Amino acid sequence: MKSLENWQTAYPEDWDLPADVLYLNHGAFGLTPRDVLVDQRQWQARNIANPMDFYLRQLEPAWWHARERLAQFLGTDANNLAFCTCATTGMNHIASFFPLQPGQEVLLNNHEYGAVKKIWKRRCEQTGALYREIEIPFPISSSEQIIHIYEKEMRPETRLLILSQITSPTAIILPVAELTDLAHRRSAAVCIDGPHTLLQYPLQLEELRCDFYTASCHKWLSAPLGCGFTYIAPQWHEQVSPFEISWGRLPPGELKSWSDHQIWVGTRDYSPYLSVPAAIDVFQKYNLNDLRSRNHQLAQYVRNELSQRLGTEPVVPDQPGPYSNALYGWMAAVWLPEGDWSLLQKKLWDIERIEVPIVHFANRYLIRVSCHLYYGVDEMNRLIDAVCKLCRTA
Ligand SMILES: Cc1ncc(COP(=O)(O)O)c(C=O)c1O
Repeated sequence: MKSLENWQTAYPEDWDLPADVLYLNHGAFGLTPRDVLVDQRQWQARNIANPMDFYLRQLEPAWWHARERLAQFLGTDANNLAFCTCATTGMNHIASFFPLQPGQEVLLNNHEYGAVKKIWKRRCEQTGALYREIEIPFPISSSEQIIHIYEKEMRPETRLLILSQITSPTAIILPVAELTDLAHRRSAAVCIDGPHTLLQYPLQLEELRCDFYTASCHKWLSAPLGCGFTYIAPQWHEQVSPFEISWGRLPPGELKSWSDHQIWVGTRDYSPYLSVPAAIDVFQKYNLNDLRSRNHQLAQYVRNELSQRLGTEPVVPDQPGPYSNALYGWMAAVWLPEGDWSLLQKKLWDIERIEVPIVHFANRYLIRVSCHLYYGVDEMNRLIDAVCKLCRTA
C-alpha cells in the first residue's frame, strides 16, 4: 500500500501531465493515468490484431470481468450494472423506459446538469408528465436545509427525483441517501446522476438503495474517455427496455437479463470499459480513505486561500464530522467578487496556461477547482496568485 503522508505534496507519478499547463478541470474531463492508457492500448491491439477472435471470443468474458470489478468497487451485484459510453447515455437510457403519465411529475433542482435537464424535459413532453425544477437557494448551510426543501416541495404527484450526488456547476454534495429514503416513503423513485462521485466519495450502491444511478468512469476514477455505467435496482429489471437494439450478445449467446442487451451494441471500440479494472488498480494502491481525505484537504486549502484573498466566500461551508458528511469533496467552489467575469476563464488560459472553469450561476460567477493527486499546494498557489492578479487588474 502506498502512503499519502502529506496532503500538501503532489503525487504525479501515475500521470503524464500536459507540459506547461495547469490542468484543474479533472471534474469535467479526467486525465488518464499512464498504466490505464497502456492497458487500453493492449485491448485495442488485440482487437486490431484479430477482430474475429477479439469480438467472438475475448470481448464477453473481458466485459464481464470488468463489470465485476466495477460492481465490487461500487458495492453492488454485477447484474445491476451495464457499461455505457458516459453518464449522458446512461441518463438517456433510463429516461427512455421510465414509466410516466399525465398527472405525474419529475422533480429536479436548479443545480442539475444542463444536459440532464434537457433529457427529462423531453421525456416529460413525450409522456405528458410535468417537469418541475425547484431552487436550492444560497446561502446553503447544511444538508438538513436541503432535505427540508425537498420535504416541502415533494407532492403526491411526484413520481421521480433526479438528483446529482455531486452537482456540476456548484460542486455541492447533495444528501442523496436521505433524499432517497424520503422519496421512497412518499412512493417516488430516485435516479441519481453521479459522474463526480466515483472515487471522490465512498459510494456503496446497495446502501444507497436508489432506483437508478448513472455515472461516467472517465472523470475522477480516471478510466479512458468514453466509459460510464447504468445501475438499475433489481425491482426495475423487468421494466428495462434496451436503449439501442443490437445483438446484445453475439449468437448463440442467449439474452437472459436487461444488462445482456448492453454487451454487444455494434462494432466499436470497447477498450474504455475493459480498462476500468486498470483504473481501479491505480487507486487501490492507496488506502482509499487516506486518498479521499488528502484530496479534500487540498480542496479545503484552495477554498480558504482563494476566498480570503478575494474577500469572498466558498459556495458551501465546512461541516463538522467525517468526510462522508461534508458538503463538498475534491472540488473547491468559491464565489468571485461581484462583477462580470465572463472573460476570466479565457484569460487564465491565454495568459497563464491554466485550465479551470469559471461558472455563471445564480447571477454570480464562481471558480471550480478540481484537486486530484497529481497536484499539491505549489500548483494551487500558482492558480490562486493568477486568479488574484487577474481579478485585481480587470
Ligand atoms: C453532474 C453531471 N452530470 C452529467 C455529466 C455528463 O457527463 P458525460 O459528459 O461524461 O456524459 C456531467 C459532466 O460534467 C456532470 O457534471
